[in-house]
Amino acid sequence: MRVITFGTFDIFHVGHLNILKRAKEHGDHLIVGISTDDLNFSKKARYPVCPQKSRAEIVDALACVDEVFFEESLELKREYIQQYNADILVMGDDWQGKFDDLKDICQVVYLPRTPSISTTELIEIVKER
Ligand code: CTP
Repeated sequence: MRVITFGTFDIFHVGHLNILKRAKEHGDHLIVGISTDDLNFSKKARYPVCPQKSRAEIVDALACVDEVFFEESLELKREYIQQYNADILVMGDDWQGKFDDLKDICQVVYLPRTPSISTTELIEIVKER
Protein backbone atom coordinates (compact mmCIF):
# COMPACT_ATOMS: atom_id res chain seq x y z
CA MET A 1 0.00 0.00 0.00
CA ARG A 2 1.24 3.49 -0.89
CA VAL A 3 0.81 6.12 1.80
CA ILE A 4 0.98 9.89 1.24
CA THR A 5 1.22 12.71 3.76
CA PHE A 6 1.93 16.43 3.66
CA GLY A 7 3.57 19.08 5.83
CA THR A 8 6.14 21.82 6.21
CA PHE A 9 8.49 19.96 8.56
CA ASP A 10 10.35 23.16 9.47
CA ILE A 11 12.89 22.90 12.33
CA PHE A 12 12.38 19.14 12.27
CA HIS A 13 11.19 17.83 15.66
CA VAL A 14 9.98 14.62 17.32
CA GLY A 15 6.30 15.31 16.49
CA HIS A 16 7.29 15.24 12.81
CA LEU A 17 9.25 12.00 13.28
CA ASN A 18 6.35 10.33 15.13
CA ILE A 19 3.76 11.09 12.46
CA LEU A 20 6.02 9.91 9.64
CA LYS A 21 6.86 6.66 11.46
CA ARG A 22 3.16 6.03 12.20
CA ALA A 23 2.17 6.93 8.63
CA LYS A 24 4.61 4.32 7.30
CA GLU A 25 2.95 1.65 9.50
CA HIS A 26 -0.17 2.03 7.30
CA GLY A 27 1.62 0.74 4.20
CA ASP A 28 4.96 -0.13 2.63
CA HIS A 29 5.81 3.02 0.62
CA LEU A 30 5.67 6.48 2.20
CA ILE A 31 5.52 9.58 0.01
CA VAL A 32 5.81 13.01 1.67
CA GLY A 33 4.70 16.30 0.11
CA ILE A 34 6.89 19.08 1.52
CA SER A 35 5.17 22.46 1.29
CA THR A 36 7.24 24.98 -0.62
CA ASP A 37 8.62 28.19 0.88
CA ASP A 38 6.20 30.23 -1.27
CA LEU A 39 3.20 28.15 -0.18
CA ASN A 40 4.13 28.77 3.47
CA PHE A 41 4.55 32.48 2.83
CA SER A 42 1.13 32.69 1.22
CA LYS A 43 -0.43 30.78 4.17
CA LYS A 44 1.38 32.31 7.18
CA ALA A 45 2.94 35.55 5.85
CA ARG A 46 6.40 34.30 6.87
CA TYR A 47 8.93 32.01 5.26
CA PRO A 48 9.97 28.82 7.07
CA VAL A 49 13.26 29.02 9.01
CA CYS A 50 14.75 26.21 6.90
CA PRO A 51 14.49 26.47 3.11
CA GLN A 52 12.47 23.85 1.22
CA LYS A 53 15.53 22.05 -0.19
CA SER A 54 16.91 21.46 3.33
CA ARG A 55 13.50 20.45 4.71
CA ALA A 56 13.07 17.96 1.87
CA GLU A 57 16.60 16.55 2.29
CA ILE A 58 16.04 15.94 6.02
CA VAL A 59 12.70 14.18 5.50
CA ASP A 60 14.03 12.16 2.55
CA ALA A 61 16.96 10.90 4.68
CA LEU A 62 14.62 9.18 7.17
CA ALA A 63 14.46 5.38 7.05
CA CYS A 64 10.62 5.45 7.06
CA VAL A 65 10.38 7.81 4.03
CA ASP A 66 10.63 6.46 0.49
CA GLU A 67 9.94 9.53 -1.65
CA VAL A 68 9.49 13.30 -1.27
CA PHE A 69 8.12 16.00 -3.58
CA PHE A 70 7.25 19.67 -3.26
CA GLU A 71 3.64 20.61 -2.51
CA GLU A 72 3.09 23.84 -4.43
CA SER A 73 -0.60 24.40 -3.61
CA LEU A 74 -2.98 23.30 -0.86
CA GLU A 75 -5.70 22.94 -3.49
CA LEU A 76 -3.93 20.13 -5.39
CA LYS A 77 -4.18 17.25 -2.85
CA ARG A 78 -6.44 15.22 -5.17
CA GLU A 79 -4.03 15.65 -8.09
CA TYR A 80 -0.98 14.71 -5.97
CA ILE A 81 -2.75 11.59 -4.60
CA GLN A 82 -3.53 10.49 -8.16
CA GLN A 83 -0.12 11.43 -9.56
CA TYR A 84 1.67 9.40 -6.85
CA ASN A 85 -0.87 6.53 -6.94
CA ALA A 86 -1.47 6.78 -3.20
CA ASP A 87 -3.87 4.34 -1.53
CA ILE A 88 -3.97 6.10 1.86
CA LEU A 89 -3.77 9.76 2.86
CA VAL A 90 -2.47 10.31 6.42
CA MET A 91 -2.89 13.69 8.10
CA GLY A 92 -2.46 14.95 11.67
CA ASP A 93 -5.73 15.29 13.57
CA ASP A 94 -5.41 19.07 13.49
CA TRP A 95 -6.97 18.44 10.05
CA GLN A 96 -9.71 16.08 11.35
CA GLY A 97 -12.54 15.82 8.78
CA LYS A 98 -11.01 18.37 6.41
CA PHE A 99 -10.03 15.84 3.73
CA ASP A 100 -13.03 13.51 3.91
CA ASP A 101 -14.03 14.56 0.37
CA LEU A 102 -10.99 12.61 -0.89
CA LYS A 103 -12.42 9.30 0.39
CA ASP A 104 -13.72 8.58 -3.13
CA ILE A 105 -10.12 8.05 -4.35
CA CYS A 106 -8.21 6.82 -1.25
CA GLN A 107 -8.49 5.94 2.45
CA VAL A 108 -8.16 9.00 4.68
CA VAL A 109 -6.60 8.49 8.13
CA TYR A 110 -6.13 11.20 10.78
CA LEU A 111 -3.48 10.46 13.43
CA PRO A 112 -3.25 12.20 16.81
CA ARG A 113 -0.56 14.87 17.08
CA THR A 114 2.31 14.44 19.52
CA PRO A 115 1.41 16.65 22.49
CA SER A 116 3.32 19.75 23.56
CA ILE A 117 5.58 20.34 20.57
CA SER A 118 5.31 22.35 17.37
CA THR A 119 7.57 24.43 15.16
CA THR A 120 5.71 27.57 16.26
CA GLU A 121 6.32 26.75 19.94
CA LEU A 122 10.00 26.00 19.31
CA ILE A 123 10.44 29.38 17.63
CA GLU A 124 8.81 31.10 20.64
CA ILE A 125 10.99 29.18 23.13
CA VAL A 126 14.19 30.07 21.28
CA LYS A 127 13.15 33.74 21.04
CA GLU A 128 12.60 33.92 24.80
CA ARG A 129 16.04 32.53 25.69
N1 CTP B 1 2.62 16.99 13.78
C1 CTP B 1 2.33 16.06 14.80
N2 CTP B 1 2.60 16.41 16.11
C2 CTP B 1 3.11 17.62 16.41
C3 CTP B 1 3.41 18.56 15.38
C4 CTP B 1 3.15 18.20 14.06
O1 CTP B 1 1.85 14.97 14.55
N3 CTP B 1 3.31 17.92 17.69
C5 CTP B 1 2.30 16.60 12.39
C6 CTP B 1 1.23 17.50 11.77
O2 CTP B 1 -0.06 17.05 12.16
C7 CTP B 1 1.49 17.29 10.29
C8 CTP B 1 3.03 17.08 10.23
O3 CTP B 1 3.44 16.78 11.58
O4 CTP B 1 0.84 16.11 9.85
C9 CTP B 1 3.75 18.31 9.73
O5 CTP B 1 3.31 19.39 10.54
P1 CTP B 1 3.86 20.87 10.44
O6 CTP B 1 2.72 21.81 10.29
O7 CTP B 1 4.96 20.95 9.47
O8 CTP B 1 4.49 21.03 11.93
P2 CTP B 1 4.06 21.92 13.16
O9 CTP B 1 5.06 21.66 14.24
O10 CTP B 1 2.61 21.69 13.49
O11 CTP B 1 4.29 23.39 12.58
P3 CTP B 1 3.60 24.79 12.93
O12 CTP B 1 3.78 25.04 14.39
O13 CTP B 1 4.34 25.78 12.07
O14 CTP B 1 2.15 24.63 12.53
